[in-house]
Amino acid sequence: MIAVGVLVSGRGSNLAALLDASRAPECPYSIACVISDQPSALALQTASRAKIPSFCHEKAPSMKKAEYEQGLIGRLREHGVQVVALAGFMRILGKTFLAEYGGRVLNIHPSLLPAFPGLHAQEQAHRAGVRHAGCTVHLVDAGMDTGPILDQACLRVDPAWDAQELAAHILELEHRLYPETLARFCRGEFRLEEGRVRVFAPPAWLRPVWNRFAASHFGRVTPVLSSPAGVPRTAVSACLCGFPCRYDAQDKRNESWLAHLQDHELLPVCPEVLAGLGIPRPRIQYENENVNDILQDPIIWDETGMDVTVPLKDAVSRIVQWCRENRVERVILKESSPSCGVRRTPWRGRKVEGRGILAAALERAGFPIVSSEAEPDS
Ligand code: GRF
Repeated sequence: MIAVGVLVSGRGSNLAALLDASRAPECPYSIACVISDQPSALALQTASRAKIPSFCHEKAPSMKKAEYEQGLIGRLREHGVQVVALAGFMRILGKTFLAEYGGRVLNIHPSLLPAFPGLHAQEQAHRAGVRHAGCTVHLVDAGMDTGPILDQACLRVDPAWDAQELAAHILELEHRLYPETLARFCRGEFRLEEGRVRVFAPPAWLRPVWNRFAASHFGRVTPVLSSPAGVPRTAVSACLCGFPCRYDAQDKRNESWLAHLQDHELLPVCPEVLAGLGIPRPRIQYENENVNDILQDPIIWDETGMDVTVPLKDAVSRIVQWCRENRVERVILKESSPSCGVRRTPWRGRKVEGRGILAAALERAGFPIVSSEAEPDS
């Protein structure tokens, strides 16, 4: 489950939409806290009615932007926030904030960007007499409404509408688009390539696998495979199916294995996602002093220096349990990775001979483990 922090300044109708959506069982995120820069923001009341921790973090005129943003970061960290959603937050975030949360701050803007950035976008659109209007969810960069576009929704404008009516129609769209796009972001369905967002689109036959992966890893549902008797059941590192790798965002899709497994019932597995370490892709590191210890009793830190040993080990044992329950016959994992590594485990810039924690646990449980670099027929 991805912890989202919402920054607001006013009415809070988008916050309410995000909160509503977060209550659905399959939603991959939960709202961990709400922060306003305005003490009178109605959004703060919405948050406290929903029993979400909420705070006002005002900027005193004497306060430097960097200091203000450090305060925001501190609050968000206290609540374990992994992704930030701006919902009517009326400040431009600067480099201090983006150094910490860049690439995982989303914003909703009430126009079809890049048209009409900045304030009063709906009035600008109305004045321009546009025939289609809408809203945009984008990643936040240092500019004003300039970050990479994640998704948009649009409507046909009735020329009889005044600016307020247009704004009301756009707002309805916002309330649908924002929760949906945030959920897709948290499920890792977007990738950034050369400043543009690409949508992760699995081939049709992999769609059910992807849905099962998302439900089991984010919705905390035990995946139950449903293949007819006789179909082999195979667990595969999720990134080998094409889901963005949590370590380096690379596409590790292994076409020859996927072609080979078309008639198998696949169970994609990823301990980092299951442990809630999905975004941003944390660089998991073994912190043990002694090389041999990492294979016996690893201590695992993420890029922020947080000890993630317990959630990762817990995720590993749940995956082993799923594989047992589903009578998985064989497991295909990456050759080299801290968790799935069949043969090598990265450690302090080196690759150490030995299995990663997932590979080791599955082997101890008696599952045949195959490296993704092996020939599919072997
Ligand atoms: C929305 O129109 C949103 O697009 C913009 O600010 C407004 C916030 O409204 N960024 P609310 O506070 O969510 O009701």
